[in-house]
Amino acid sequence: MTAPHASAPGTTARTPAVAMLRLLGGFQISQALYVAARAGVADELAGGPRPVGEVAGATGLRPDLLRRLVRSLAAEHVFGYDEERDSVALGPLGHTLRSDGDESVRAVALMWMETHYRPFGRLWSTLHDGVPAAERELGRPFFDWLGEDPDRVAGFSSAMADLMRAVRSDAIDALDLTGVGHLVDIGGADGTGLAALAARHPRLRGTVFDLPHVVAAADATLSRAGVADRVDTRGGDFFQAVPEGADAYLACFILHDWNDEQGTRILERVHEAAAPGARLLLVETVLGHGPAPEIATLLDLTMMGMLDGRERTLENWRALLAGAGFRLTRTVETTGPVCVIETVRVDR
Ligand SMILES: C[S@@+](CC[C@H](N)C(=O)[O-])C[C@H]1O[C@@H](n2cnc3c(N)ncnc32)[C@H](O)[C@@H]1O
Repeated sequence: MTAPHASAPGTTARTPAVAMLRLLGGFQISQALYVAARAGVADELAGGPRPVGEVAGATGLRPDLLRRLVRSLAAEHVFGYDEERDSVALGPLGHTLRSDGDESVRAVALMWMETHYRPFGRLWSTLHDGVPAAERELGRPFFDWLGEDPDRVAGFSSAMADLMRAVRSDAIDALDLTGVGHLVDIGGADGTGLAALAARHPRLRGTVFDLPHVVAAADATLSRAGVADRVDTRGGDFFQAVPEGADAYLACFILHDWNDEQGTRILERVHEAAAPGARLLLVETVLGHGPAPEIATLLDLTMMGMLDGRERTLENWRALLAGAGFRLTRTVETTGPVCVIETVRVDR
């Protein structure tokens, strides 16, 4: 006889073993989603349901296997499969795999499976020696490996732009830029975040700052958004120096990439560059805060496997910032997984 057991949240009517099998099979679902995303299946369904054979013809996938792929992903609410008509449609989550739209995370699907998937096979060693799985797998730190290939850089920046639109746009809305004339976006990637901010704040001037090979893509983003006359770009290394003299600095998903010692070095460079009383705004997760805590803990695993970074509690943030001369003044929760952490530069 088996002992009675309580159901874990979300597992009602499932035995724990069934719920666990679903979790354990996550790697297969990830790869199935990757195939669908890369082949453009969701784009083919943007206009409504279509016969499986037609979608297979348009995407180059084998119809017999596409039918099974779709059926498996229908169980995850990504597609819908109509057996009678042998047709496929977008399910409630399907539009997020389209290449356009504000909720698209297709570039994340491509990036996670093309750069993160293999390194995670080495998480075992990370939990023993602390070396990020990606560094073991790739033979060098992740950002060094990424920078060696322009296609990898472009894929990573597209994924960041997806995340910015899909889950961080309300953080951009929540940023209080009252009195800010010039904002520097530290690690601003291809400029998607600062372009959105400049569009919302017509008098704001800005600088996108990132590694030279990354920030090179920002000019095109800023021109497309019609803000290139107010926002410029600067290439550099935030461990060496950041642009001087702005009233406010933004660091969106930057410090979580690094350990406390590295994070302190970045913050010290910002402290040196910023005028007394300047503000530093962080867009980051705060563990235990916000309506999507499962994304913060998922990203904590990402940081463990890919970089020597981490997600942080409010107390962790306060201590890290204080150690480099910034006082945490307020945190603002958003409807998504991230918070805005407002800080002000103080004398050290
Ligand atoms: C997680 S991404 C965040 C990008 C963007 N802020 C966003 O929220 O979408 C981290 C960014 O830090 C940049 N980065 C990494 N190392 C850097 C360095 N040493 N100096 C400047 N930027 C760096 C990367 O190129 C990348 O664009």
